[in-house]
Amino acid sequence: MTSTQVTTASGRGTPARRPLPDAPFLAAARGETPSRVPVWFMRQAGRSLPEYRELRAGTPMLAACTDPGMLAEITLQPVRRHGVDAAILFSDIVVPLRAAGVDVDIVAGTGPVVANPVRSDADVANLPLLDPDQVSPVADGIRLLLGELADTPLIGFAGAPFTLASYLVEGGPSRNHERTKALMHAAPATWHALLDRLATVALTFLNVQVAAGVDAVQLFDSWAGALSEAEYREFVLPHSAKVLGGLADAGVPRIHFGVGTAELLPAMRSAGADVVGVDWRLPLDRAAARLRAAAPEAAEPVVQGNLDPAVLFAGSSVVAEQARRVAAEGRAAGGHVFNLGHGVLPDTDPDVLTRLVEVVHEQPVR
Ligand code: CP3
Repeated sequence: MTSTQVTTASGRGTPARRPLPDAPFLAAARGETPSRVPVWFMRQAGRSLPEYRELRAGTPMLAACTDPGMLAEITLQPVRRHGVDAAILFSDIVVPLRAAGVDVDIVAGTGPVVANPVRSDADVANLPLLDPDQVSPVADGIRLLLGELADTPLIGFAGAPFTLASYLVEGGPSRNHERTKALMHAAPATWHALLDRLATVALTFLNVQVAAGVDAVQLFDSWAGALSEAEYREFVLPHSAKVLGGLADAGVPRIHFGVGTAELLPAMRSAGADVVGVDWRLPLDRAAARLRAAAPEAAEPVVQGNLDPAVLFAGSSVVAEQARRVAAEGRAAGGHVFNLGHGVLPDTDPDVLTRLVEVVHEQPVR
């Protein structure tokens, strides 16, 4: 092993993280001035692309996520097609749970479905932790990607403890998260034990991805917006802070995102985020003002977002006008990574995304 090699969690030598000093996405995420406004899209890899549907045909979702060649190819598809400034690993938030032995599957059109929901102390005690070797196909896929991506950064990700807990407690997707909130309030010790375990799983999964060479990480707490700020701070924040804090010295920017989290943004930043993801409900200039007011001594806030994914169906002139507005509002923050306010919707016309990247790249940085 030479000095350019590091040892992964699974013990294999792998090239050290690529030096990408000029990558606009990484510059913006670090609060530096990028050469152009960087843009990538949550759920850019997936069902909006015909080449994805063709490749995935006949392969179950979670099998695709643990096939190194397939996950690498799907990750690359939107980079080739759209010219985005970052790739996001093709995976899913339930991949580490399934790899650890939880009976969870992804049902098309529904989402994650858990065979045996987790609701008691015994269920929590039986929830397996993740051994890094159980996700070695993901690390292998990342190593393949680093050889293919040239100077495009690769974002790794995990589901945050609350969003993972919601699927485990409810047994599947939920509108009101009532069983999850019932457990949180009625059995707080059980709740905290569950979230602590899920934080360990998420951190282990992210550490595997960082060791394999991802350039940034995003913690998806997609459903945190279901909580009040008081609930978030008491029942969720300490556990998300364990995940993000555990990566403080990893040398990669940490993005923290949820939907409907306008009231939670300062708390989500304080969990250890370098970049705060914002959905479309709150303009980015107001998001930046809230973050600044909550932590006046901290560095200028860097935000990610926030074009409404539904606006992509409104025609090219509306998309361009809304993209210019989002970019202008983003200039009020210390840094801006252009994205949608949530994931690409499956029926989105891929050509609209390609054109949107071009429009974003025409916007001034400052
Ligand atoms: O962003 C990317 O391009 C990477 C791919 C990605 C997937 N899942 C692939 C996927 C990412 C980042 C995720 C994360 C994820 N998974 C989240 C957090 C992000 C978010 O959107 O809020 C959540 C909540 C999940 C759970 C999950 N998995 C849902 C709700 C669904 C959709 C169910 C459906 O069919 O409508 C999935 C399945 C899933 N994950 C698909 C993809 C491409 C669709 C499955 C398919 O293509 O067959």
